[in-house]
Amino acid sequence: MSRIAYVNGRYVPFAGARVHIEDRGYQFADGVYEVCAVRGGKLVDEAPHLARLDRSLQEMHIRPPVASAALAHIMRETIRRNAVGDGLVYLQVTRGVARRDHAFPATAKPSLVVTARNLSIEKYEAWAASGVAVKSMPETRWARCDIKSVALLPNVLAKQSAREAGAFEAWFVDGDGHVTEGASTTAWIVDAAGVLRTRKLGNEILPGVTRGELLPMCRQLGIQVAEKAFTIAEAKAAREAFITAATIGVIPVVKLDGSVVGDGRPGPVAKRLRAAYWADRA
Ligand SMILES: Cc1ncc(COP(=O)(O)O)c(C=O)c1O
Repeated sequence: MSRIAYVNGRYVPFAGARVHIEDRGYQFADGVYEVCAVRGGKLVDEAPHLARLDRSLQEMHIRPPVASAALAHIMRETIRRNAVGDGLVYLQVTRGVARRDHAFPATAKPSLVVTARNLSIEKYEAWAASGVAVKSMPETRWARCDIKSVALLPNVLAKQSAREAGAFEAWFVDGDGHVTEGASTTAWIVDAAGVLRTRKLGNEILPGVTRGELLPMCRQLGIQVAEKAFTIAEAKAAREAFITAATIGVIPVVKLDGSVVGDGRPGPVAKRLRAAYWADRA
């Protein structure tokens, strides 16, 4: 079965899907995106992802290309046309096509692209079972990391540097020595006192949808949690650590900059939250 992409009002064969060379996403990274997990053919956490998209668009002063209900329909139709069972939907909105000039064009129509594909969930289960390694590096991103912008070059370089060092993820560390977040994930630890910690929301991190769903879940499960930043030293001394994102859910971190975290195996809080998160979304 051949893949289909949605591009500006049409469903087209994926292999031939195109945007214009003067699309501002291509020239200026002037656009935003979302990634939603799909489980059993259904969108996971659809409402908070669409709410975050709206916020990103507002912050960038980009007009929504279609109404939220229409977008939800397009996402479902893209899932259906690509026969996605367990996988993801990717959607990207840019300011549109215009003659190259930094300032906003007066008339450009926002561009909308939606794709969907199956993922090998077994791979994620294997990472969840073994845990993964993380490498820390200085924060090199801009001052509005709360916007889910397609301008991801520092994230790309950080992820590559982590991979070259044999790590799965990179954790950015700010000027005060606190972890902001991963290159494409939210960072968490269960500190030496047993408190689950993740940084509070602000311009320095993306408001992760998985993060937002897990926090109330922790409270329901009686897991003590604090939205409080942590240092690399605290993470190395932590009982456990993990990362979260829409497609992977909760993945334990067992190594940080070459040091073993906790007892070097996925911790009980990460395992419990991973199970509870997917159980609610089965
Ligand atoms: C920089 C960054 N932080 C955190 C996340 C996790 O966000 P979510 O849970 O919404 O996938 C992502 C996901 O892509 C990300 O790119």
